[in-house]
Amino acid sequence: MDSFEWNKIIGAILGTLLLVMGVGFLAEALYKPIDGRGEGYALPDPAAGANENAAPATQEAPKSIAELLASASVENGAKVARKCQSCHNFDEGAGNKTGPELYNVVGGPIAHKSDFAYSDELKSLHDAGDTWTFDNLNHFLTSPKDFAPGTKMTFAGLKKDSERADIFAYLTSLSPNPVPFPAVEAAPAADAAATPPADNAAPAADATPVADAAANVADQATQMASDAANAASDAANQAADQATQMATDATNAATDTMDQAADAASDMTDQATEMTSDAVDATTEMASDVADAAAETMDQATETVTDAANNAADAAGDAVMNINDAVTSTDVTLPTDAPAVAAPASH
Ligand code: HEC
Repeated sequence: MDSFEWNKIIGAILGTLLLVMGVGFLAEALYKPIDGRGEGYALPDPAAGANENAAPATQEAPKSIAELLASASVENGAKVARKCQSCHNFDEGAGNKTGPELYNVVGGPIAHKSDFAYSDELKSLHDAGDTWTFDNLNHFLTSPKDFAPGTKMTFAGLKKDSERADIFAYLTSLSPNPVPFPAVEAAPAADAAATPPADNAAPAADATPVADAAANVADQATQMASDAANAASDAANQAADQATQMATDATNAATDTMDQAADAASDMTDQATEMTSDAVDATTEMASDVADAAAETMDQATETVTDAANNAADAAGDAVMNINDAVTSTDVTLPTDAPAVAAPASH
């Protein structure tokens, strides 16, 4: 095998290595991990979510019944009263139905009709001396079951603040002596609290109301703060739950993607291995072919040389023979006048 054959074989091996490396580069380019892109999802900032949800909670601090009544309308209340008319009469002396007649109920005792069979719940409130203040009415009409568990009034309640205020204005109007609406306290109380004490110091009599008002404001503020805190904590919990859920989803998605990539990479590796082994097979075959051809050529050359040598040897032998024959068959006639030639001593 000469150096040219070796060059071919080494070239084939180098080519195979180049191919394998090329497949490696290709696979890397296709499946290169992408850095610096951050999470798949933009997770909401739990703190921001909490603030968002907490703000309305603060604003939704329940309005006092006095505030609601300040903007109530008797006319609208008469319309809302249609929801009650299946069970209640509103006119004086119209009598009880499923529920007691409601004429002159505001400000009167709870269970105000002596001729109606109230639930034990309302009866015991009546016995305790409780009356239908606006606060009690507000509580009862918001959710009868909350105010008096076991009440006979199977009515879900009026959830709208404005509807309750309107029906209270209407009910209040149904009386020979309408109860005055409570004064709206919140605003003056806030003013009083905000005013520097020095300004109010002169009239000693004012000190107590101001202190009361301040205490009220403080109570309300505490309530509002605690409501806001609860709302904020709820919102934070929700946000945390959502974040956890999203993180779990993202992790699952990432795991799936990685599995797929691993599968693809393993497929590529298999293919590359196969290609390499094919290439090696082909190279080996080529090398063996080349070697065979070389051997054959050498055989032929040897044969040719041998033949040539044989032919030459034969030809040389023949020539020697001819010379011998010629020498033997030639009659040498020596000229008589020639000096005697001694015959060759040996032939
Ligand atoms: C499904 C029937 C039903 C409907 C509808 C209904 N009520 Fe009643 N209501 C009752 C019954 C029954 C009672 C007595 C409750 C008890 O004894 O626990 C009652 C009691 C009351 C009382 C207390 C009366 C008292 O003498 O102490 C008020 C006030 C009242 N209802 C207002 C209303 C208003 C306002 C509406 C409409 C927004 C309404 N109810 C709708 C059945 C009804």
